[in-house]
Amino acid sequence: AEDGYELWLRYHPLPAAAAAAYRNQAGQLIVGKATSTQAATRSELLRGLGGLLGTPPPLSAEVTRDGAIVAGTPSSSALIASLHLDTRDLGSEGYLVRSMRVNGHAATVIAGNTDIGVLYGAFRFLRLLQIGRPAGTLDLRDTPRMQLRVLDHWDDLDRHVERGYAGQSLWNWWTLPDDLDPRYTDYARANASIGINGSVLNNVNADPLILTHRYLLKVAALAGVFRAWGIRAYLSVPFDAPVRLGGLKTADPLDPAVRGWWRDKADEIYRLIPDFGGFLVKAHSEGQSGPQDYGRTHADGANMLAAALAPHGGVVMWRAFVYANRPGEDRVKQAWDEFKPLDGKFAANVLLQVKNGPLDFQPREPFNPLFGAMPKTPLMMELQITKEYLGFATNLVYLGPLFKEALAADTMAHGKGSTVARVIEGRRDGHAPSGIAGVANTGSERDWCGSDFNQANWYAFGRLAWDPQQSARAIADDWVRMTFSNDPGFVGPVVDMMMASREAAVDYMTPLGLAHQMGAGSHYGPAPWDHSLPRADWNPTYYNRADARGIGFDRTATGSDAVAQYAPPLARCLADLACVPDAYLLWFHHVPWTYRMRSGATLWQALVEHYTRGLDAVQTMRASWRGLQGHVDAERQLKAAAFLAIQQREAQWWRDASIAYWQSLNSLPLPPGYAPPA
Ligand code: GCU
Repeated sequence: AEDGYELWLRYHPLPAAAAAAYRNQAGQLIVGKATSTQAATRSELLRGLGGLLGTPPPLSAEVTRDGAIVAGTPSSSALIASLHLDTRDLGSEGYLVRSMRVNGHAATVIAGNTDIGVLYGAFRFLRLLQIGRPAGTLDLRDTPRMQLRVLDHWDDLDRHVERGYAGQSLWNWWTLPDDLDPRYTDYARANASIGINGSVLNNVNADPLILTHRYLLKVAALAGVFRAWGIRAYLSVPFDAPVRLGGLKTADPLDPAVRGWWRDKADEIYRLIPDFGGFLVKAHSEGQSGPQDYGRTHADGANMLAAALAPHGGVVMWRAFVYANRPGEDRVKQAWDEFKPLDGKFAANVLLQVKNGPLDFQPREPFNPLFGAMPKTPLMMELQITKEYLGFATNLVYLGPLFKEALAADTMAHGKGSTVARVIEGRRDGHAPSGIAGVANTGSERDWCGSDFNQANWYAFGRLAWDPQQSARAIADDWVRMTFSNDPGFVGPVVDMMMASREAAVDYMTPLGLAHQMGAGSHYGPAPWDHSLPRADWNPTYYNRADARGIGFDRTATGSDAVAQYAPPLARCLADLACVPDAYLLWFHHVPWTYRMRSGATLWQALVEHYTRGLDAVQTMRASWRGLQGHVDAERQLKAAAFLAIQQREAQWWRDASIAYWQSLNSLPLPPGYAPPA
């Protein structure tokens, strides 16, 4: 049955003509198995080629016929070494895939400096076949732009997943470490296929239990499965673990006993997991403890953990998602205020992990002004793959364009072209670490992500983490081909649907720079009227500031002045009604309902038009998917169709509820052409 389990590594038989052509490039396979990664590479090539072409190529020790595939490193394979390939610029994870003659025969060579590089090259080769590209004249070289390409799992130890919409946690803590569910291997394969090389196993709202020896044995078992696939395990740790777990009276980062406790804990972890990645820390945020509880700074806290990990080569990923409950202070300003003064104060193995926007994974928000503002600190970007604010599992929202928008935003911090991507890529000489994290959307459901289309968001995250320059459309195109089919009558319309889907969600949920209008707490469905939560800055009304006269959050000098956190030329534009893009209008400005947009329409008319456009776009997606019946198996066709029906209903709910609420404030008539709810 087509239950989505195979993800984009589907390897179903190619159409006969395509398979026949590729068999000329897959006549025999020369690949070692001396290490676990070599064995993984071999098994993936056998499985992939066997599936796609009907039978796997025979294994061989040398090239004896045309169509050989030779995979390895110069140090592991005498044959590869004899080819004198130039692998100098491939680093420790890059690869080359080249068509060349070996022993007088046509061959495909997949090589790198490390086994992992070769594994990535093997996945690249398989992808070419999956998407129907020619494979006889290859000359590809590729290396990742960032070192740490990590999934953050917000998984609790009772298997609940915070903001997870795809079932329970993948990690079965009850049966680990004894039972190694084959799914752990398939998880690692999927990640390796897109270049993800790290996995933070537990929720940032961390339970100290994870640091007990009993749980570390379980973590070690997972790390043992992941290792062959180039994935390191990391853990989220609570800052006050020395108190809650260690029985100390304090977690003060300058206290020698506390420092000793963490050092011992790190030593214990590395005895069990020699390639352990490090710690992710949510400190002094949303009720979590932090160094501030002891009168210390974020840098004191991060550096203390960094000192414990440094002898073992581990890193600290210290999160910048902080905002205190200070009524009257604009929440989006706080991270910058707290962290910018600490630039240059962090140890060399600390990365500051910054969410893409200054608020919280909204359908659209401007980039976080910390990017570009801390040149002496490696900044990681944190994206959210799970759709906490985007309709959960059912709504079809392809996040490639959102991720791209975040990466391509120009901070102007060091002149034009200082994009967020360049900021996080950092120096590429290997001294300062660089990285990107995505909050995972995986769970125990058969299809991993709660829908087939959600898989595309995991896929796109990995591909962009490897190379932020790739286009969201090209990635979607690859994904559709690998996941569904190469049928051109199918690929084009589905890619178009996906590419339009994110803007549609912005339109029907939070157009023109509105944000955080979702049901308070659950973040599901519209609730722009809601002010029921105990903290002002958790409520939709805090963000829309709507009343009888107008709507929007004044973040210019007459308001919170958050705009001043951006580089001056950008800040000037955003603060100026004549310059600010429509997409960010209500993020930075409070304007009257009668405000004239560039289009000539009033703001009120424009708002109604955007909501309606979003709903129309969902209707179009639904019709387009319905028209593709027959191009795709019935199981996946029906499921996506059902989800699109849900999405259409919800888009309508968003539009009608939002408009009705604004109207209850402004008493304006509906613009002509607007069809009121049936
Ligand atoms: C959001 C989310 C929380 C999460 C937090 C974080 O606020 O709703 O569930 O814990 O982000 O990133 O720490």
